[in-house]
Amino acid sequence: MVSPADVEAKLQSMFIDAAGTSLRREDLKKAVEVAALLDELARLGRTGTLVDVAAGKSYLGLLAVELLGFEHLVVIERDERRLEDVRRAMGKLTRPAKVDLRLGEVSDASLWPERPGVVMALHACGAASDAVIDAALAREAKWLLLVPCCYGPAIPSWANAQAQAERLGIPHHAEAQKRFLHALVDAERISRLEAAGWETTAVPFVAPTVTPHNLLLRARRLKEPARMAEAAQRRRRLLTA
Ligand SMILES: C[S@@+](CC[C@H](N)C(=O)[O-])C[C@H]1O[C@@H](n2cnc3c(N)ncnc32)[C@H](O)[C@@H]1O
Repeated sequence: MVSPADVEAKLQSMFIDAAGTSLRREDLKKAVEVAALLDELARLGRTGTLVDVAAGKSYLGLLAVELLGFEHLVVIERDERRLEDVRRAMGKLTRPAKVDLRLGEVSDASLWPERPGVVMALHACGAASDAVIDAALAREAKWLLLVPCCYGPAIPSWANAQAQAERLGIPHHAEAQKRFLHALVDAERISRLEAAGWETTAVPFVAPTVTPHNLLLRARRLKEPARMAEAAQRRRRLLTA
């Protein structure tokens, strides 16, 4: 078990490390999220390359190295300043590891390693979550741990979700629409994974008081033909407005 206290200590020493400063409220919440996902990761075993995508400062990736002993990490992030933060924190790792920093878009296939062991994305904004799924499928990762966030029209399945809401007569009240659209967007993601042969579970990985975006999609590549056929059939229904 990785505890939030373990993560807090590493956030302080690797990412903050300025005398007299302490973790802010949002850092404490981030520690709870990161500890929960590191626990998930620990249960999968330490096989193959770990990819931390839409990584920000790569709390998740670097702490998987530091606290779980992962030996090869690829960090994909489009913001150069964030990657600078990652580079600085890498210097504080106390375990040896190969860490590759890749600047650019999630959708850029050239940034991705072949057949990674685990792809992780914590709060991949909007369409970035969809690009993570597509890349994990294309690169034949073994596992995917994805926490989507930021829902809106940039998401590829958004228009389908809106069409389904109209078809079913979902009231135009903002909250009713939001809940329905978000559920359909996540259902489309799950169905895309399952139709491609990935066994997928969707679970709240922390309490909603820690983050309202607390849905974890946990998927593993199985490629079981009967399940794929059934999932493809359900997917056709989901996408037929
Ligand atoms: C909400 S932050 C989450 C960061 C980190 N995973 C965490 O939870 O601390 C989202 C990060 O994803 C990056 N990002 C968003 N869309 C991206 C894309 N299409 N390609 C690469 N990085 C992206 C942003 O620059 C940002 O650093």
